[in-house]
Amino acid sequence: MTNTAQEHYNSPFNPGYGKQPLVFGGHEKDIEELTDVFTTMDFGENHSVLVAGLRGAGKTSMLTLLKDAAAEKGWLVISDDASSGLMERVMETTIPQLINTLDSGAKAHLTSLGIWQFNAAWEYESRQREVKPQLRHDLVALSNAVDQRGILITIDEVSSGKVRLRELSKFALQVSHALSDGANIMIVFAGIKVNLDELLKQEHTTFLRRSRDVDFRRLDPEQTMRVLKETIRIGGRSITDDALRRLAQISQGYPYLIQLVGDYAWRARPSEPTIEMSDAEVAFERAIRAINSRVISKVYLDLSDVDKEFVKAMTMALDNGRAKMENIVQNMGVSAQYVQVYKNRLIDSGYVQKAGHGYVEFSLPYLDQYIRTIISDDLAPDGDEQAPDEWADFPAPKL
Ligand SMILES: Nc1ncnc2c1ncn2[C@@H]1O[C@H](COP(=O)(O)OP(=O)(O)OP(=O)(O)O)[C@@H](O)[C@H]1O
Ligand SMILES: [Mg+2]
Repeated sequence: MTNTAQEHYNSPFNPGYGKQPLVFGGHEKDIEELTDVFTTMDFGENHSVLVAGLRGAGKTSMLTLLKDAAAEKGWLVISDDASSGLMERVMETTIPQLINTLDSGAKAHLTSLGIWQFNAAWEYESRQREVKPQLRHDLVALSNAVDQRGILITIDEVSSGKVRLRELSKFALQVSHALSDGANIMIVFAGIKVNLDELLKQEHTTFLRRSRDVDFRRLDPEQTMRVLKETIRIGGRSITDDALRRLAQISQGYPYLIQLVGDYAWRARPSEPTIEMSDAEVAFERAIRAINSRVISKVYLDLSDVDKEFVKAMTMALDNGRAKMENIVQNMGVSAQYVQVYKNRLIDSGYVQKAGHGYVEFSLPYLDQYIRTIISDDLAPDGDEQAPDEWADFPAPKL
């Protein structure tokens, strides 16, 4: 393609897991209160934070935002995934690297503690052999060495495998000891709700029950349109009101989809100054397959077998966008009590929400339509889909 308006070819949208959005929508209060700690050092309830949400809801982006804000205030940042070898990576790689970034005053302070050895140029050399290395000691030492600042630890991708959980719980124990010893630490864990719940059940993680909970669900229509409009404006173009509304409608406020449809709409006619309705329609067509393969199928895969049974039974019971609990119980062929437990779990995790007494509906756009494609074909809903509360005026287009 050749065009003079070259600058428009670079889409400002950033669809993909772990890709930071140019404009971060929603969660203003959490962000403000958490980032305030980086300046005030007044932790309150914010020593530990649990960021929960479905895939693509924006958990990693939130961690990145916090890390950037903390680093800007001079905090030390330790960030990793909850994958195997966590403790070793943090102690053998991350902390030595952090130490090397410190000023000489802080390093002199650290030398006097005798945990680490430095060479003549004040660079980290190794650990003192006689000390049994423990993360808690490292954290306390670092915290003291940078006294007016703190340490932000982020652990992404918390998963519920047994070995992983054992490692995480060991890690958490060390952090909780460091906290008791007065270290200025904020630790943030991110993962899907059920996995974070498993983490809390571990032996040494009771202190995490007092964490601040940050729940990632959908953005509301206003936030959604702000993200779309602002991103497009910063990218150097504009969008008509009807196209904006249409893109918001397609995305249903789901962060990954906002980036995805925004990106497709941008690329439809990148040399034009304004994104119009026709571009939004092109985006919709292109997004259909991507939504299922890149987003919804992954969300579905995170469900346990029983959860899958529930959402299938629920999909079969859908009538005008909502399902009667009684019918779900009937479809599953088990006791109402049992079904209730799974309903609550799914509500808690953000897949499902209440829709009036005795009814539930999907909170995630397109999940029901996806599930229909994997069960049988004769389950089409009758009538128009009824969207929840604030999204009532923005019904999801059929895929
Ligand atoms: N608050 C937000 N506003 C706008 N876009 C966002 C927001 N948060 C995330 N996104 C976008 O959504 C997509 C997914 O974000 P992210 O990777 O942070 O999700 P996640 O919850 O970590 O997913 P996973 O569970 O798979 O790790 C990215 O393209 C990102 O740019
Ligand atoms: Mg992530």
